[in-house]
Amino acid sequence: MSGFHEKNNALYAEDVALSDIAAEYGTPTYVYSRAVITTQYEKLAGAMAKAMPKSRQPLLCYACKANSNIAVLNLLQKLGSGLEVVSEGEMRRGLKAGFDANKIVSTGVGKQDSEIAFGLKEGIHQFNVESIPEIYHIQKIASELNIVAKIVFRLNPDVSGGGHHKISTGRKRDKFGISIERVAEGFNIAKEMSHVEAVGLSMHIGSQVFNVQSFREAFEKLPNIVHDLRAAGHKVERLDIGGGFPIIYNDEQLLDLDAYAQWVNEIIVPLETEIIMEPGRYMVGNSGVLLSKSIHIKETQDRSFVVLDAAMNDLIRPTLYEAYHGIEPVENRQRTHKLYDIVGPVCETGDTFATDRSMAEMQAGELAVIKSAGAYGFCMSSNYNTRPLPAEVMVDGDMVSLIRPRQSYEDIFGGDIVPDFLK
Ligand code: LLP
Repeated sequence: MSGFHEKNNALYAEDVALSDIAAEYGTPTYVYSRAVITTQYEKLAGAMAKAMPKSRQPLLCYACKANSNIAVLNLLQKLGSGLEVVSEGEMRRGLKAGFDANKIVSTGVGKQDSEIAFGLKEGIHQFNVESIPEIYHIQKIASELNIVAKIVFRLNPDVSGGGHHKISTGRKRDKFGISIERVAEGFNIAKEMSHVEAVGLSMHIGSQVFNVQSFREAFEKLPNIVHDLRAAGHKVERLDIGGGFPIIYNDEQLLDLDAYAQWVNEIIVPLETEIIMEPGRYMVGNSGVLLSKSIHIKETQDRSFVVLDAAMNDLIRPTLYEAYHGIEPVENRQRTHKLYDIVGPVCETGDTFATDRSMAEMQAGELAVIKSAGAYGFCMSSNYNTRPLPAEVMVDGDMVSLIRPRQSYEDIFGGDIVPDFLK
């Protein structure tokens, strides 16, 4: 059985009971399903294959900021994915996981010298340039290394997309990309440079983009821009249309992937370019849960609290974006419901996973899962309150493998140094 499902009144990851994973690896632990990641990759690649001609199939560059565990990267690499990275660290992870450098694209508003140099030496596919000063920056480093850098300009299409204002990136006021008015200037500057070759455009309007029309609205801006640039003698051979596909966290209406693929076919394919996409959340979001245990059930005059052993340091999305994550008991799942505030042990009121949530009545010491935590979960975790980062495991059928052990206290503060002047 693939994915997360219920069997004999208990929750399973593929063929493994989550309670067995908790017994073996403790809690809190992130649990990922290999089958779900594979299915998501194949769904996206399949929708594109169905809608678009063979010669224009996109290069899917998994945005590994969503989940950069090397086991997850290795799986996606084996499925045929490329990679989108935002730092030298992510680039190094990708290479370690086996990605071909030529399938890696590098984005970000503040690429540093060392990461530009690293990417150039490794031979990555392209840098997605986000500002005019960045062109000079790349030229300087590329000429020192005597390597020609292929770049595309990230357009800011002034389209609002994204499930929360903190993850919308395509509005004029956002820090991302170059405005439509200034992109020709970017191409003109690049043309004068010895070690920079501008070969196309990119855009990414936001994440968890539920208003799917926003994608279409942004795509529709491209044909005129591409025609004008070509008329001015510029090369537009690549279009990177970003990520942002939403997933279901609660009862949202999921983006119709086939419609999206049709829009790409209708609007982007006729421009006769190489097509790149940067999906992150879609690939991994529903592939993971955060397995946790209730420490106490606390009743006050006003409210009932479930205090879990997972906290905002393990999964910050509810605190940071008021994000919804389903929370359910792992065993004995048929019982009456009750309204709870579901919180972690961190000393902040913001350390709350859900408020006034109807949930099966819980007892102290019981297991619970926080669902859809495969994207932007572990990779955004921290050591706040000197809490160790959780363990991560991957399930494949009836096999479970630890893909990152729980941190030890030595890992957390073993590197702290007391200065001589305090001794
Ligand atoms: N490409 C670029 C340039 C991006 O900035 C991002 C995400 C992606 C692709 C992938 O977007 P996706 O397909 O995953 O929506 N921490 C937030 C999400 C931040 C997204 C940042 N950029 C969250 O937990 O919702």
